[in-house]
Amino acid sequence: MNTINVAVLGATGTVGQKFITLLEGHPYFKVAEVVASPRSAGKRYDEATNWKQDNFIPTDVANLVVKSTDDALESKILFSGMDASVAGEIEEKYAAAGHIIISNARNHRMNPVVPLAIPEINHDHLNAIKTQPWKGGIITNSNCSTMFLAMVLAPLHKAFGIDFLHVTTMQAISGAGYPGVASMDILGNVVPFIGGEEEKMEIEAQKILGSFDGEKIISADFKVSAQCNRVPVFDGHTETLSIKFKKSATPEEVKEVLRNFRGFAQEKNLPSAPAQPIIVFEEENRPQPARDVWKGNGMATCVGRIRKCPLNDVKMVIMGHNTVRGAAGAAILNAEAIVEMGLV
Ligand SMILES: NC(=O)c1ccc[n+]([C@@H]2O[C@H](COP(=O)([O-])OP(=O)(O)OC[C@H]3O[C@@H](n4cnc5c(N)ncnc54)[C@H](OP(=O)(O)O)[C@@H]3O)[C@@H](O)[C@H]2O)c1
Repeated sequence: MNTINVAVLGATGTVGQKFITLLEGHPYFKVAEVVASPRSAGKRYDEATNWKQDNFIPTDVANLVVKSTDDALESKILFSGMDASVAGEIEEKYAAAGHIIISNARNHRMNPVVPLAIPEINHDHLNAIKTQPWKGGIITNSNCSTMFLAMVLAPLHKAFGIDFLHVTTMQAISGAGYPGVASMDILGNVVPFIGGEEEKMEIEAQKILGSFDGEKIISADFKVSAQCNRVPVFDGHTETLSIKFKKSATPEEVKEVLRNFRGFAQEKNLPSAPAQPIIVFEEENRPQPARDVWKGNGMATCVGRIRKCPLNDVKMVIMGHNTVRGAAGAAILNAEAIVEMGLV
């Protein structure tokens, strides 16, 4: 298979840098264009970006000149890690020009003709790009905290039916982009508010677990109550949840369903797919972000402390890498899925 040229929009940001890192040596995709704000456009990528990754900037990308969002682009697939304040209009403009946008930004997530896609759960929703109103298409991935929640809820909803759930998050500072939360606000502290986060968490999982009727996506019908907190952790969002099912389920049954879960991404052996998408821990003090955030190359959802809940049926802890599985890695997996499905 010939490599497909891709562009990264918002290439200089936290998620953009993760795209550049994860796409280095990718078997399907080659970063041919990098795009950012007027502050960066016209500069060489290594001069424009404040690189914060552990690897060096790949040389071919370091030498690219950053383009502006006013420029026409040549790549068919555009990965977007743009700031949500500007992403909506710019993504639509490029979709109208025939590009396929795979976005991390929130702007188009709840549009019923735009897939909010996770290839393990709803790869059939990706077919929506065939009937969207643009010459190209727009695909989104979820909010980073919703990603791990949806991964766990999907097999449980299928097995037992979700009635409602309550989730509390402890979210890493890398989720706020760079420079993120000021050190004097977050060191030795917990900030019990992340703007817009609870609202997103309370509606996105239902769309991901919903059905595609050939034209639009219809959300599943269960209620989520979310409380979101920022904590002094570098990478890795931890969440505690308590679920009420429609059918009764024991903690042991829940563990078995989660352990056996596999989806389209594993069946097709997509390059970024973790072999074991959900890792269930038996240790009473796991998962922990410092120990487990890189499980499955940062693409696994880690689950532990599955036990009976005195209020609902079952409670547990979940955790995953917010800028990999919760952002850039999720978008790359979606792109791999549309290649596999012949949608590019
Ligand atoms: N961080 C996470 O864990 C995470 C997870 C899921 C989703 N997201 C979403 O992903 C997006 C990026 O987040 P981030 O954390 O990477 O933010 P970030 O570090 O602040 O990066 C923002 C990017 O947007 C670019 N940008 C800003 N204004 C622009 C404009 N007018 N035109 C074109 N590009 C512009 C910036 O370019 P300059 O450098 O030139 O300013 C930068 O490349 C957001 O929508 C966010 O909600 C983030």
